[in-house]
Amino acid sequence: MAFNFEKMLAPIPERSLKADAIKATGARNTAEYISMGVADMSFKPPDAVLKELSREVKKGFLGYYGGIENYKDAVTKWMKHVHSWEPRSEWISTAHGLVAAIGTALRAYTNEGDGIIVFSPVYHSFRKIIRANNRKLIECPMLLHGGKYYLDLKKLETLMTGRERMIVFCSPHNPGGRIWKIEEQRELAFFCKKYGLYLIIDEIHNDLIYPNKKHVTFPLAASDVFEKFILMTSTTKTFNIAGGLMGNVIIPSEKIRRKFSNANSATGESPNRFGMIMGEKAMQEGQLWLKNLMKYLNENRIIFDEEINSIPFVKSMPLEATYLAWVDFSETSIEENVLMQKLTNDAKIIANPGSSFGLGGEKFVRFNLANSRSVIREATRRIKDLFKT
Ligand SMILES: Cc1ncc(COP(=O)(O)O)c(C=O)c1O
Repeated sequence: MAFNFEKMLAPIPERSLKADAIKATGARNTAEYISMGVADMSFKPPDAVLKELSREVKKGFLGYYGGIENYKDAVTKWMKHVHSWEPRSEWISTAHGLVAAIGTALRAYTNEGDGIIVFSPVYHSFRKIIRANNRKLIECPMLLHGGKYYLDLKKLETLMTGRERMIVFCSPHNPGGRIWKIEEQRELAFFCKKYGLYLIIDEIHNDLIYPNKKHVTFPLAASDVFEKFILMTSTTKTFNIAGGLMGNVIIPSEKIRRKFSNANSATGESPNRFGMIMGEKAMQEGQLWLKNLMKYLNENRIIFDEEINSIPFVKSMPLEATYLAWVDFSETSIEENVLMQKLTNDAKIIANPGSSFGLGGEKFVRFNLANSRSVIREATRRIKDLFKT
């Protein structure tokens, strides 16, 4: 089957975070803006997903969701075929999105005031949800070597005070698109074991892997090391259905799982009908779409990097996964707020300032590359224009 992503573009609707971000500029002509902030793709989800949703709407029954065993069956098959690790159906809980699931896990396993560790710069909602739950955020900055991030467990040792209870880990990493090697995941697992920490592994980007790269899911890499891990996966980034707000929380250990289930029940969690229907269908029929998507995104990534790296002192981090380019402007003389103003007001590009990802993110900018090739070219042209002397 041929996939032409140029023909699968969905215009930004009024009711979207992307539209809100453009409106927030105060501009009258919002059509001039290129949206490269919010991590939704510009492509329609697989046809099978749209058709399934339409069928459901046409039937007219929009009540509470049921039939979760079929959904769980799709999750176990997806994990087995795509990630070579097969969870048991009873290990899987669902949640209203992974950020909400992280909040639930914080309440399940830790108390107010406990230290929660993240490796920064990292997806900004980790920091927000940790603080919103009155836990103490501990940022362990990653090392940056040869344009690639590394975990700094030696540094983390020096930050440990005895009040830390959990690490929230992003794999593959957002931002920077780093795929963690098996040895790195094992070292992290041994660290957690040594200090008695719970480990949340957010693998929301685990399917968005570039050709010839390999992501290894945490349980396959290191579940023999310790049992206090909580794996989170989702179809939402993979198939561009984040509005369905759902996700999977996979916990092999019964003891650890019971705590999560209790905390999840305390939120009144009950699956979102539309999210579950879309997710199930996407896992059943979306694999070929995904393969072609990654080929398309790979071309976008190559073009973007080539253009951006031609600007003196500017470096785009080579992505192994995710469609979120991470560009280092730290060797230019421009301040971050000036750069962001220029990007928004002059280039008319909406992107995410690096400082919003925490320590080490300053003077980086994150750009969403899941757009048509012509938009990517136009965006790079506008960014290059900012630096013309
Ligand atoms: C690492 C990571 N986790 C979670 C999310 C959001 O998850 P959800 O929409 O399921 O809350 C994102 C969104 O970009 C993300 O990058």
